[in-house]
Amino acid sequence: MRQTLIAGNWKMNGSLAANAALLDGIRAGAQGLACEMAVCVPAPYLAQAEAGLQSSPVAWGAQDVSVHESGAFTGEVAASMLRDFACKYVIVGHSERRSLHAESSELVAQKTLRALSAGLVPIVCVGETLAEREQGRTDAVVNAQLAPVIAAVGEQLAKIVIAYEPVWAIGTGKTATPAMAQQVHERIRATLAQADAAAAATVRILYGGSMKPDNAKELLAMADIDGGLIGGAALKAVDFLAIAQAA
Ligand code: 13P
Repeated sequence: MRQTLIAGNWKMNGSLAANAALLDGIRAGAQGLACEMAVCVPAPYLAQAEAGLQSSPVAWGAQDVSVHESGAFTGEVAASMLRDFACKYVIVGHSERRSLHAESSELVAQKTLRALSAGLVPIVCVGETLAEREQGRTDAVVNAQLAPVIAAVGEQLAKIVIAYEPVWAIGTGKTATPAMAQQVHERIRATLAQADAAAAATVRILYGGSMKPDNAKELLAMADIDGGLIGGAALKAVDFLAIAQAA
C-alpha cells in the first residue's frame, strides 16, 4: 500500500565531476528495483540531476525551499524554481536547518505548504536531540514539530512524506534500534490519524540517521518504517543501491 521510498540527502557535498559518477552509478543500478528512489541534491546541481536522471526510475529534489513565492529574498530558492528543474521532492525542516538556521516548526509548516502549492512533495523532517530523548520528551518534541505542519496542510496531509530523524543518530554512526524507531513512527502515524485517518494510512514515514547497507534491512522491515532518508551512505552509489535493494 505504501511504496518504500529510499531518498538520498547529499547535504552540502559534491562537485560536477563527482556527481556525474554518482548519478551514473545510481542510474545504472536502479533499474528494476521495487522501491522508489530519489536524490536531494544541492540547488546548483539540480540541472545536472535532471539531465542525469531523466527517463530513469530515480526522482530528484532539493534540500530546502523558500517560504516566499518570489521577490527580494537574496540567496533563497523558490518552489517554482525547483519545479523548473522538474524536482519531485524537497526536504523541509531538516534538523541541520532547524538548529543552524533557527528554523521554527511554524516556518517549516509554511515551507511545507509552499512546496505543496508548487506541486512538490515535501519531505518534512522531525526528530529529537539526545538530551530531549534522555528527558523522556521524544513524543512531545516530535508532536510539537508536527502540529503546525498538520494544521497548515489540512486536507493535503496525504500528499506529504515525513522523515523521523533522531538528531543524535545523524552522521554519528549511532542508529536507533528498529524497535526504537518503530515506536516513534507508530506514534507519528497515530498523531496523523487524529487529524485524518485515511491520510495517515498512506503517508510514508521515512527513518533517517546513520542508515547503512548493514542496518537497512531490519529497519525497513518494521511496520511503520516506509523508507529511508540517507545522508552519508547516499554519497556512494554501491551503498545507496544496497540500501534500496534491502527495501
Ligand atoms: P546520515 O545518514 O549521514 O546519518 O544522515 C542522515 C540525514 O540527516 C539525512 O537527512
